[in-house]
Amino acid sequence: MVSWAITGATRGIGLGFVKHLSMDSKNQVFALIRSLGTARPLMELAAQRKNIHVIITDISDPTKLDEAAAEVSKVTDGSLDVLILNAGSAGPDTAVLPPSAFHGKKEALDLEIGESIKNNLLSNIYTINSFLHLIRNGAEKKIVFISSQSGNLDFTRMTGFSTLLGYSVSKAGMNMAMTKFASELAPEGIKTLSLSPGWVNTDAAKAVTGDPEIRKFMLNMFHKVDPKVEGPAPIEEAVSNMLRVIGKLNEADSGKFLTHYGDEEQWF
Ligand SMILES: NC(=O)c1ccc[n+]([C@@H]2O[C@H](COP(=O)([O-])OP(=O)(O)OC[C@H]3O[C@@H](n4cnc5c(N)ncnc54)[C@H](OP(=O)(O)O)[C@@H]3O)[C@@H](O)[C@H]2O)c1
Repeated sequence: MVSWAITGATRGIGLGFVKHLSMDSKNQVFALIRSLGTARPLMELAAQRKNIHVIITDISDPTKLDEAAAEVSKVTDGSLDVLILNAGSAGPDTAVLPPSAFHGKKEALDLEIGESIKNNLLSNIYTINSFLHLIRNGAEKKIVFISSQSGNLDFTRMTGFSTLLGYSVSKAGMNMAMTKFASELAPEGIKTLSLSPGWVNTDAAKAVTGDPEIRKFMLNMFHKVDPKVEGPAPIEEAVSNMLRVIGKLNEADSGKFLTHYGDEEQWF
């Protein structure tokens, strides 16, 4: 029996993990969600598969997260094998602006950076700290952060991708926090990984690259690192690739930021 907890499990990549993992009845899958509002497909699946446990929580509230961990603990008898920090969002409308456009817009900049740091960085650290005692008792001892190629310096430099400021800063910052956790927890055999999912066909991807003109602009940038990329990959393909990388995660790779192919180059 392997136990998995996934945040942001109502839609997109998070729901993809739940669907894939729960096909194996030897997995216990904990779907952590913030509300039932978007959870219909998840709830329909959970009604059919007894190994899916839906837990409503608030990843910005450490007390609620402690309660969620206690619910997991009741089912697993105090352990968790793999924690996947998947919940994330692109930030306010100002995400379309490059950094210099914030001159004279202090409030907008504070919000652009602050919202993303809260949602994509602080909330993930709260989540790790609330679930760490369960991971310590787990057999796999793995903590995985679903990052983004936007949080990679070389990707940004090579593509010339100058927007999504707060999102990119928060993903890069969380990558560093994951490496800090790896350094701290290595003596206990706990491994961490920041993992880019690729470009995946989800609501979030549609919101950022759905408009045909914007997609053309993005593709021109993306072609600078991969001339063959044509568009987002299906969710199931991305999830299968990431689970292969998570399966191979060992002490030697702990704390790294890898692509869905397990390297540091193939972002698509
Ligand atoms: N799709 C891509 O091409 C791509 C590329 C690079 C990185 N990523 C990363 O992959 C992860 C999943 O993205 P996705 O494409 O699957 O996005 P998505 O389809 O928009 O789904 C996002 C999920 O995260 C949840 N969520 C968002 N903000 C949250 C918050 N503050 N608190 C709790 N839950 C929250 C959403 O819950 P609700 O349903 O309640 O809104 C939803 O379940 C994100 O971390 C994203 O940055 C995606």
